Amino acid sequence: MAAPLPSWNRSTEPFAELISAEAISARCAELGAQITRDYGERAATSEVVLIGVLKGSVIFLADLVRQIAAPIYVDFIGISSYGDATVSSGVVQITQDLSRPIEGKHVVVVEDIVDTGHTVAYLMENLRTRRPASIALCSLLHKPERAEREVAIDYLGFTIPNKYVVGYGLDIAQQYRNLPFIGFVQGA
Ligand code: IMP
Ligand code: MG
Repeated sequence: MAAPLPSWNRSTEPFAELISAEAISARCAELGAQITRDYGERAATSEVVLIGVLKGSVIFLADLVRQIAAPIYVDFIGISSYGDATVSSGVVQITQDLSRPIEGKHVVVVEDIVDTGHTVAYLMENLRTRRPASIALCSLLHKPERAEREVAIDYLGFTIPNKYVVGYGLDIAQQYRNLPFIGFVQGA
């Protein structure tokens, strides 16, 4: 699919809105409250680290952490899947590693979307070898129709249909991450 070139930023065209900015914001508040309940006490004994997966999760992470009322740390990891931009190959490479070790810490991985599940399955496996005290996955979106790997999502924003979505951090050819809502290409 060719990426449409953005000559604008805030109109919904050529996208159809799938999830509004308001709905995302409300869901972030709920997820933040849930994480606060689950990790508030643990934070007193060992560090709680939210790991944002670059670059798609950055906007979600920024909103989510402001809804967590507990002492947390933030770190980032960069990964890239080889192959076509819109189809995950399952071959994953770490392009930027964490800034600090996670051994003995409580980790929450924050992803934008679980599609085939290959990326997150690889990432969780890799992070587990670093012996965190616990590890959980928080994903804004899940496309279950595309699942090829079984992935347990502990905190999920929205389940979506099998459409390629952009906005709120998600891109097509690195564009449209700055849309405030989540949309899909009409007719796609
Ligand atoms: P998976 O390995 O197939 O689960 O792919 C996960 C990665 O592919 C995500 O972290 C996204 O970066 C990208 N991705 C998958 N589906 C979409 C989509 O609909 N829009 C934007 N990026 C997507
Ligand atoms: Mg991603």
